[in-house]
Amino acid sequence: MAGYGNASWTLGVLGLMVACVEEPTPVVEPPSPTTPAPVSPPPTPWSPMIVETSPVTTTRELVAAGVTSVAPLGAADLVVVREDRVERLTAVGEAELWGFALPPVRAAAPWGTATLIATEDGLVTWDQGFVPTALDGLVEDVTALQALRSGLWLDSATGLKVWRDGVLQGVTVEGRATTGMARGRAEGAPVIWTADGASAVAVNFTDAGLTAYEAMAFFGPVDAVATDGLGDAFALVDGWLVARTARNTWTRLDFGSPVREVLGHAGADRVWARTDAAWLVWDGSSWRSTDVPTDVRGSLDALGRLVAVTDAGVERFGLGRPVLLVGLPEDDVLAAATVDVVVTLPELAPVVTVTATGLDGTPVDLPVTDGQFVLDPEVLADGLWSLTVTADYGDDQASTTATVNMGAAFAPTWPDHVRPIYESSCRPCHEPGQAVVALDTEAAWIALLDVGTSPDSAGILDRVRIDNMPSDERVVAPLDKALLEIWASGLPTP
Ligand code: HEC
Repeated sequence: MAGYGNASWTLGVLGLMVACVEEPTPVVEPPSPTTPAPVSPPPTPWSPMIVETSPVTTTRELVAAGVTSVAPLGAADLVVVREDRVERLTAVGEAELWGFALPPVRAAAPWGTATLIATEDGLVTWDQGFVPTALDGLVEDVTALQALRSGLWLDSATGLKVWRDGVLQGVTVEGRATTGMARGRAEGAPVIWTADGASAVAVNFTDAGLTAYEAMAFFGPVDAVATDGLGDAFALVDGWLVARTARNTWTRLDFGSPVREVLGHAGADRVWARTDAAWLVWDGSSWRSTDVPTDVRGSLDALGRLVAVTDAGVERFGLGRPVLLVGLPEDDVLAAATVDVVVTLPELAPVVTVTATGLDGTPVDLPVTDGQFVLDPEVLADGLWSLTVTADYGDDQASTTATVNMGAAFAPTWPDHVRPIYESSCRPCHEPGQAVVALDTEAAWIALLDVGTSPDSAGILDRVRIDNMPSDERVVAPLDKALLEIWASGLPTP
């Protein structure tokens, strides 16, 4: 296997069996070697890319006053501590009292039916009351939490830990505890990006145990890692931000001022970086310099907004004015369902309109009352509908789209639903006889759904999701994207 630099990779897991909550009996298992992912040598020299930033004014919202600490939870909820009260502030603006006297909160994540909260003094769960978790006392100083299917990942003062099947394991790389954690994607799989001081490594559990998907050594120590929802990863190396735009392709970014901090969120297309001069934000296509004071500290929510406690209270800083739908049914809509529209800066009283468009292309306007609209099976016929929700501020507009299925489960098929997407969006370049792979058959689509013709190439789903394909000015409509996802999720697993 090709090594790189002077680092050769072994990855081991130290397992800690947890016997009971009060008195854990540690059983140290020998590290089990896993096959490191192939890595290519880092580019030499790491020539910096000069990044020009244009200024942007952020939308600044005061969310709550008198708050001492805050942690984003789920799509747009917050867990806040004010004086001795602990509350969940919901996206629709309700404050739900959870209890009293919790130390400052650092991170929160859904945890089964409950919510796991990392405080300065340890971990607690909220489930109609605060209860100690099985993890309490086992992991100290947790700064970040990620609940993945592979387990609960915790970034702590003693490195990255994962709680799986009732066992707490410390993730180590060559015996060094890793630090920093960000959820991302590599090779189409969900991964945790982590740093071990020297390198950035993408890991997750597979049938083979803990697996490194990708590892990259840099020109200096890695202090932090961040990701966005598009699959990009960012490493903070010795005051430089290094961006991963494709597998094993990392570019050092030069903002003209050292970077001190980087924040990302796997659900958002934004990454924030703090330099000595400004808070910068990646808007999905370029870096902008914001008006957020550099003494502001916070974390990102799922809409890519910086959530911080300032002198005024909890403030949210973001680009644009995102519109959020709360209570949108994820399952088939069999009975009337009410959906909340949450707008940014509600005090400006934007005019909200909702239009539903069915598979036959006919738009239906849905009335909005008190920030709510109803998905009614009496009004919307069975089948897939795309919703466009627009908030009109007069001087500015913001909108969001979503897809819902009315009625019984809907099973798109290749000839009726996917083939038309191929015909209208892909055929010009992907019909047989062209230089690129032919996509004129169902078999070709199934083979290339998750990964392209080479292991390094992204598959159809990833490319269509981020509008990488079609490669021209065409984009696949939201409804067609939903059709494609539903069709893919209904296929037998390979
Ligand atoms: C304007 C031309 C064009 C259109 C339209 C287009 N593609 Fe592509 N596609 C390309 C080219 C060129 C490549 C090879 C370069 C690359 O991999 O990015 C490619 C590569 C791909 C690959 C990777 C193939 C491999 O060998 O790994 C996939 C998957 C793909 N396209 C899917 C699609 C889908 C699905 C559509 C329609 C929704 C589409 N493309 C529309 C030009 C196009």
